[in-house]
Amino acid sequence: MNEDQWTVVDRYITDQLVPSDAALDAALASSAANGLPAINVAPNQGKLLEVLARSIGVKRILEVGTLGGYSTIWLARALAPGGKLITLEYERKHAEVARVNIERAGLTDLVEIRLGKAIDSLPRIASEGGGAFDLVFIDADKPGNADYFAWALKLTRVGGLIIVDNVVRNGDVLDPAGDANAQGARRLFEAMAKEPRVSATAVQTVGSKGYDGFAIAVVIK
Ligand code: SAH
Ligand code: DHB
Ligand code: MG
Repeated sequence: MNEDQWTVVDRYITDQLVPSDAALDAALASSAANGLPAINVAPNQGKLLEVLARSIGVKRILEVGTLGGYSTIWLARALAPGGKLITLEYERKHAEVARVNIERAGLTDLVEIRLGKAIDSLPRIASEGGGAFDLVFIDADKPGNADYFAWALKLTRVGGLIIVDNVVRNGDVLDPAGDANAQGARRLFEAMAKEPRVSATAVQTVGSKGYDGFAIAVVIK
C-alpha cells in the first residue's frame, strides 16, 4: 500500500457513497481561490462527521477550527430541526470565506462563526451557559488539543461525542520528543486516557489527506 493507492481508494469510496454536491464543491473551490490551505477534512471524513452526528441526533454542535467551513457544512446538515452550530476561528479571512460558503450552502441561520482564539471563546461560551453540546469537533491548532478537550468535556452532555482530528500526524504521535503538534497529540491521548467521564478510542485514517487519525470519545457521566 502506498499513498497513491489510498487516494485512489478514497476516490472510489467518495464516488460510491459521497455524491458530489454543489455547495461543498463551491466551498472547496472558493477556499482554494482565496488562498486558504487545503487542510479541510476529506469528503468521506466529512461524511463520517455527518453520520456520527446524525446517529446521536444532534441539536447543538461546537466546532473548534472553521477554516473555509467545509466540515462545518457537513456537520450543520446533520442538525435536527431547530438545531444550531457554533464554530470558532481566529483568522478573519478564514471566517469571511467560511461565512460566504455557509451562506451558499443555505445554512446561515443555523451557524454562528465566532472570531477569536478558541481558548478565549470557549470560557465565554461556558459562562453564557451555552453548554450541553451534543457534539464537539476539535480541529484547530494541535498544541491546544488537550485544553480544547478539557473545555469540550465541560460543554458536552452525557451521551455526546467529542471528536478530534489529526491525532496521528503521520505517526509522529509516537515520538515523545516530537514537534509541537506531536506533543499536542500526546497530551490529548494522556488527557483522554485518565478521564473517567469518557469512553474513548482513536482510529488511524489514510486517504486523500495522507496518514492521520481521529480520536472519538463519548461522554459517559
Ligand atoms: N475544520 C476545518 C479545518 C480546520 S483547519 C475543515 O475540516 O474544513 C484549522 C483552522 O483552525 C484554521 O482555519 C486555523 O486558522 C484555525 N485555528 C488555528 N488556531 C486557532 C486558535 N487558536 N483559535 C481558533 N482557531 C484557530
Ligand atoms: C493540517 C491538517 C489538518 O487537518 C489540520 O486541521 C491542520 C493542519 C496539516 O496537514 O498541516
Ligand atoms: Mg484537521
